Amino acid sequence: MTAGGKHLYPVHKASRLEGRMRRLLNSPERLLKDHVKPGMRVMDLGCGPGFYTLSLAAMVREEGHVIAADLQQGMLERLAKKIESTSLEPQVLLHQTTTDRIGVGANLDVVLAIHVLHEVTDSDVTLGELFERLREGGMILLVEPKVRVSRREWMTTVRGAVRAGFELEEGPYVFMGRSAVLRKPFGLSPRRRI
Ligand SMILES: C[S@@+](CC[C@H](N)C(=O)[O-])C[C@H]1O[C@@H](n2cnc3c(N)ncnc32)[C@H](O)[C@@H]1O
Repeated sequence: MTAGGKHLYPVHKASRLEGRMRRLLNSPERLLKDHVKPGMRVMDLGCGPGFYTLSLAAMVREEGHVIAADLQQGMLERLAKKIESTSLEPQVLLHQTTTDRIGVGANLDVVLAIHVLHEVTDSDVTLGELFERLREGGMILLVEPKVRVSRREWMTTVRGAVRAGFELEEGPYVFMGRSAVLRKPFGLSPRRRI
């Protein structure tokens, strides 16, 4: 399936995103532990079947929440089945995006954008919207797979993030991945604060 000219990860292959090897090599707990705390408002953009969403929901606990946002209804349905009637269900809000707008979330502490930006129609537009949806000091954990995203494409995305107003920090080690933390700075002018 494609959207806005970009290839989307197929729903029928979603289980491949949740393999044991991935959990071993890129454990959600290792990637997230320095960034996600109880009570936080977090978004998992392009959540897919929820490989990271479940760990996020456990980490923010009942006092926080996770917006699991995806363009494909089929991905959200898989995730819905997984959390149905579990203790994590109350803190997960499922949301279907459109190709050019996320459309939900305010004052977010953390956004996970893992293996998704290369699928969005215009990453500059998405990064601009995320900038407005984060609180000052909030951050995006951006990860892209090396097999899909060349170093050059990665640098183009990162430069777009800096143009949108983010400060660049080193991301965690990701096996076969490129990572960065994009931080929304404190002390923005009132016009940009929103
Ligand atoms: C390769 S999968 C990664 C899923 C998950 N983040 C993970 O790492 O396991 C990419 C996901 O991004 C979603 N996606 C693509 N474009 C999107 C958009 N504009 N808004 C939200 N989700 C999008 C796809 O539907 C797919 O579920």
